[in-house]
Amino acid sequence: MRKKIVAGNWKMNTLVFEGESLAAQVVAKSNEVSGVSLVLAPPFTHLSSVAAGLKTSSVALSAQNCATEDSGAYTGEVSAAMLASVGVQYCILGHSERREYYGETDETLNKKLAVCFKNNLIPIFCVGEKLDERESNRHFEVVKAQLENTLCKLSESDYEKVVVAYEPVWAIGTGKTASPEQAQEMHAFIRKTLAAKFGDKAEATPILYGGSCKPSNAKDIFSKNDVDGGLIGGASLVADDFIAIAKSF
Ligand code: 13P
Repeated sequence: MRKKIVAGNWKMNTLVFEGESLAAQVVAKSNEVSGVSLVLAPPFTHLSSVAAGLKTSSVALSAQNCATEDSGAYTGEVSAAMLASVGVQYCILGHSERREYYGETDETLNKKLAVCFKNNLIPIFCVGEKLDERESNRHFEVVKAQLENTLCKLSESDYEKVVVAYEPVWAIGTGKTASPEQAQEMHAFIRKTLAAKFGDKAEATPILYGGSCKPSNAKDIFSKNDVDGGLIGGASLVADDFIAIAKSF
């Protein structure tokens, strides 16, 4: 059975005290969830104190990004080693907001994948097409290129650790969700593309769905064969909603 994961991407939301409280609420309710790994991805400034709050729980900690380089004169950057040193276990990479607003390319992401593996961080690697790409029926081609230029270049031993998130850009923060059928179709396509390189190992790769996932639609989306969980934005800022989503399996 593939690992099921529900991860909350808080993006640039909450002040530290609010984040600590949100994490504490998730921890308090986490015993209502079984068979699903919970992951929280707060902003960098919150990682140390949220890590302390998660210590005695099974809820894992993720960063939302990391630097491409190991250390040195890179003002404003945070390295994968720094993240690991405060107890971070996962790192979101290639989110569409980073690709779009901060110019992240496949080349940048390959460097970030390498530093994550070097520091034992599990990448939650995001792919997904924009609205015009779907409307012009290029969504498979776009996602295939995103995978072939990055994850498909990994060694088998690194690939085995990866979590993939399919986030159609047109569904992020828009209230528009991919239908369960659209999600399943793309998730199966992602698995097939990865299997062409990694064979059976792709069967074990968790592929999460992200984009306006809420308690009201999670059950239908998660019921699909190739959907192994969710990467949740807005709804992860409300502990009850985040837990309700995780209970939707
Ligand atoms: P929303 O759930 O707010 O649409 O965000 C999804 C997302 O981008 C998670 O990384």
